[in-house]
Amino acid sequence: AAVGGRAADLDGLRVVVSAGGTREPIDPVRYIGNRSSGRQGVAVALAAADRGADVVLVAAHVDDGVLATASALPRVRVVRAGTAAELGAAVEAEAGAADVIVMAAAVADYRVAEVSPLKRSKDAAPAGGITLDLIENDDILAGLVRRRRGGQTIVGFAAETPGDGETLLDRGRRKAARKGTDLLAVNEVGWAKGFEAADNAVTVIDAEGEVVAARRGSKGDVAEALWDAVIAVRRTSAN
Ligand code: CTP
Ligand code: CA
Repeated sequence: AAVGGRAADLDGLRVVVSAGGTREPIDPVRYIGNRSSGRQGVAVALAAADRGADVVLVAAHVDDGVLATASALPRVRVVRAGTAAELGAAVEAEAGAADVIVMAAAVADYRVAEVSPLKRSKDAAPAGGITLDLIENDDILAGLVRRRRGGQTIVGFAAETPGDGETLLDRGRRKAARKGTDLLAVNEVGWAKGFEAADNAVTVIDAEGEVVAARRGSKGDVAEALWDAVIAVRRTSAN
């Protein structure tokens, strides 16, 4: 049946989408975070539900206002996660039953080695500055790719700042190869680009590094283009 005026071309598909940005605690009142609003990931979840999929949206620090439309849909179940470890556990718990997993969340690469149970005070710190020890977090996407089963499609997102003589596409291709994703959505970010903006520009690369979609527009437009690419890649791999 048509949903929201669109063909239900994802009818019955079980989808997991992560969105937002994880926060790694330093002490009870401070954290290391990032600027991801979760809008692009939420748009991906909404578009999937609109096209007939059953969606689990794993949201890390997404504003209630941004989540509201998705939370209200019967076909979307929202699971909240705070840290990278929590997001990883939540995604992995849902991954087994998923046909498509989209990792749109900005996952912290590192966590604080020793989280202070009390608010840190300058009194106990050396004068002039301190050093925080950080430990690398597990790569959730890499784990999903390692455990990918037949018929499962795994999609990553990569926010990149071009530079060092490398184009955005070069970086995206290198990352797609390193990550082993079926699709990688690459978008350019900068101090004033990509985060709070309503619009986005994304290039989607397949496992061979081929560009299979490129879309500039609202985060909803980008989401629709991404699902078109998912359908196309699933059709190809089914043959
Ligand atoms: N990702 C993940 N787990 C992590 C880090 C990233 O699952 N610990 C996922 C993100 O959700 C995203 C993809 O990996 O879908 C790419 O994230 P990105 O930060 O661009 O890649 P990294 O491998 O962390 O490389 P780097 O930050 O060094 O560019
Ligand atoms: Ca990273």
